[in-house]
Amino acid sequence: MRFDILTLFPGICRPPLEHSILGRAASAGHVSFGVHDIRDHGRGRHRVVDDTPYGGGSGMVMRVDVIDEALQEVWQPTSHVVLMAPTGRPFRQADARRLAAKPHVVLVCGHYEGVDGRVAAHLVDEVLSIGDYVLTGGELAAVVICDAVARLVPGVLGNAGSLEEESFEHGLLEAPAYTRPFEYRDWSVPEVLRSGHHARIAAWRKAQSEALTQAVRPDLWAEYARKEVSNPSTRQKEPAGVVDMAAPSE
Ligand code: ADE
Repeated sequence: MRFDILTLFPGICRPPLEHSILGRAASAGHVSFGVHDIRDHGRGRHRVVDDTPYGGGSGMVMRVDVIDEALQEVWQPTSHVVLMAPTGRPFRQADARRLAAKPHVVLVCGHYEGVDGRVAAHLVDEVLSIGDYVLTGGELAAVVICDAVARLVPGVLGNAGSLEEESFEHGLLEAPAYTRPFEYRDWSVPEVLRSGHHARIAAWRKAQSEALTQAVRPDLWAEYARKEVSNPSTRQKEPAGVVDMAAPSE
């Protein structure tokens, strides 16, 4: 699978793609990343990429012609083009799975006050946001999407089993994990995890997942509960015991 990022700040995007799991996946040929400087397509001697907004308002707007030209350099018939913007649809694990099935994803990063509206309307397949907050640009968002998608590409993670059990895959957050030491200060690992009883451990993890999701993500819990009701064959009992959850202290 190929990812191309179009950005005014290639230096923000490259390092995270060159390290750790993504770096190794690229070296092994499971994925490849290209990072391209939109300013190469800027206008005039100063390579201008933006202009003042029609109708007035603050800030500068990135030009549609510049972005179109930058896109043409990487676009192929199989490309799926995404604009990163806080006005996009929220990116979720299901979107990561959907994008991981594409052969080529192009991520366009906006900067400054925004991007000419014709980019979203005519040049891209979709607009995605990574959360309800405004970043200084789409670069970090594009890297987040590369990371979430690339790790689902076969071969990128050694252990495919870990994908099955992780957060969001079944609409729930993942239960906490523990390792040695069994006792630390006066905090011990839940005894059931040492029992060797696989069914009891699975049931404990499920209950923990449910309690955690209910406590910290009522939105996900409502979605999960609704699906359980509409599919009684998988209906579970109410979540048992509560995990020790640190509340935010403001
Ligand atoms: N650019 C600025 N904020 C963003 C966000 N939350 N998601 C995606 N791109 C962005």
